Amino acid sequence: MVVNFPPDFLWGSSISSYQLEGNNFKSDWYFYEKEKHLEEAGQAVDYYNRFREDSSLAKELGHNALRLSLEWARIYPTKHDIDEESLKHYKNLLIDLNDKGLKPLVTLNHFTLPFWFVKEGGWVKPDSVDYFMKYVVKVVKDLKSYAHIWFTFNEPLVYIYNGFLIGRWPPGYKSLSLGLKALKNILKVHSLAYREIKRIYGEDLCLVSLTKHMRIFSPCYYFNFGQNNFLAFLIDRVFNFSLMDFFCNHKLLDFIGLNYYCKEYVSVGNFLFGKECKLPHHEGWKNTLGWFIFPEGLYEILIKLKRYKLPIIITENGTSELNNADYARFLYAHIRSLAKALNEGVNVKGYFWWSLLDNFEWDEGYKHKFGLIEVERRTFVRYIRPFAFIYKKICEENAIEI
Ligand code: BGC
Repeated sequence: MVVNFPPDFLWGSSISSYQLEGNNFKSDWYFYEKEKHLEEAGQAVDYYNRFREDSSLAKELGHNALRLSLEWARIYPTKHDIDEESLKHYKNLLIDLNDKGLKPLVTLNHFTLPFWFVKEGGWVKPDSVDYFMKYVVKVVKDLKSYAHIWFTFNEPLVYIYNGFLIGRWPPGYKSLSLGLKALKNILKVHSLAYREIKRIYGEDLCLVSLTKHMRIFSPCYYFNFGQNNFLAFLIDRVFNFSLMDFFCNHKLLDFIGLNYYCKEYVSVGNFLFGKECKLPHHEGWKNTLGWFIFPEGLYEILIKLKRYKLPIIITENGTSELNNADYARFLYAHIRSLAKALNEGVNVKGYFWWSLLDNFEWDEGYKHKFGLIEVERRTFVRYIRPFAFIYKKICEENAIEI
C-alpha cells in the first residue's frame, strides 16, 4: 500500500551551527574541548564558507526545507558587541535557502553558548534571561523576512542532563540544584522569547516552538524487572513528557518539534532514580554509538503526542551506521512508522533527517557519521551516500510504500 503525505509536507534535514560551521572560537565548546583534551571541532565541515554548495546539494536531494541554527557567540562575540558581519552572513544564508525553494527552520540555541556568557555564570544566573532576550530580539528583527519557523532551544533536558547532571558537556557540572536553576531560567526565557517573537511578527505568519528529544524507555528485563518497569515509567513521564505538559498547558508552543533516535533500557541505579542499563545482555540493532534502534518507537511516541492536539514536525531522526544497507533500513523503517501514525490521524507536518552532512558529534568527535552526505575530513570534499537517493525519491514522490 502506498501512503501519500500531505501536499505541503516538509522534507529536509537538520544541521547545527557549531557542529558544521567550523572556527567558532568564541563559543563555550571551543574552550571546553581544549580543557578536557577532547577531539576538537576545528574547521568542522566548513559549512560557514560552503553553505551555498551544501544548500544546492540539499535541493538536489529533494529537500524542500532545511533546519539550521544560529551561533549566538558569533553574533555577540562579547557581552556588548554585535558582529554585524555574522548577522549579514546568516541573512545571506537564509536568502540563499529561500532562493532555492528550501524553507528555513531556525533554531536560536543548539547547545553552544558564548564563552563570555558562561563566564558570567551562564544559565544559572538570572541575568542570563536578559542576555538571551537581547540576542533574540536583535536576530529575529533582522531576519524576520527570511524565516517564519523558529525554535528557541534544541533539547533543553538533554542539555541540562549532559551539562549539569553528569558533567559530560560544558559547563561540566554535576549538581542537581544548579541544573534546576538553569532549567528554570531556560523555561522562563522560552516563554518570554515565544511572546516576543510573536510580537515582532505581529500579523505576519510565524510559528514558534522548541525541539524535544524523546526516547522509548524500556525496563531491563534481566534483574529487578518490577522495579525497572516502574523506573522506566517514571523516566518516561519526567524526561519525555514533563516539559511538554508544561509548555502545552501554558500555550507556549505552536507545534511540537520532535527529535527521535532510539530506545534505552532502564535499570535501578544510584543516579536520581534509574540509569541506562549498559550490560551486554540486551540484543538488537545498535548503531555505531551503541544506541538501540527501534523504529516502532517513533510510531508509539507520535500516537502519545496526539493528545496535545498540536501539529508535529519530526525535527531530527537519523543514525550513524557502518554500511549503506543499515542507513537505508533505518530510513525506511522510521518513515514507515511515521506514515502509519499519519494514517491514524496524527498531524505530522514534516520530517528532517539528522543530518545533511557528517559533522562534529560533541564529545564523541568525528567518528560517527550521521550525514546524508559524507565529508572527507582533510579536503572537505562532499560525497552523497547511496541511501540519500532513497530519501530523495521519498521526498520527491511525497509518498512511501508500507
Ligand atoms: C542533537 C544533535 C546530535 C544528534 C546525534 C541530537 O539529539 O540535537 O546535536 O548531533 O542528536 O547525537
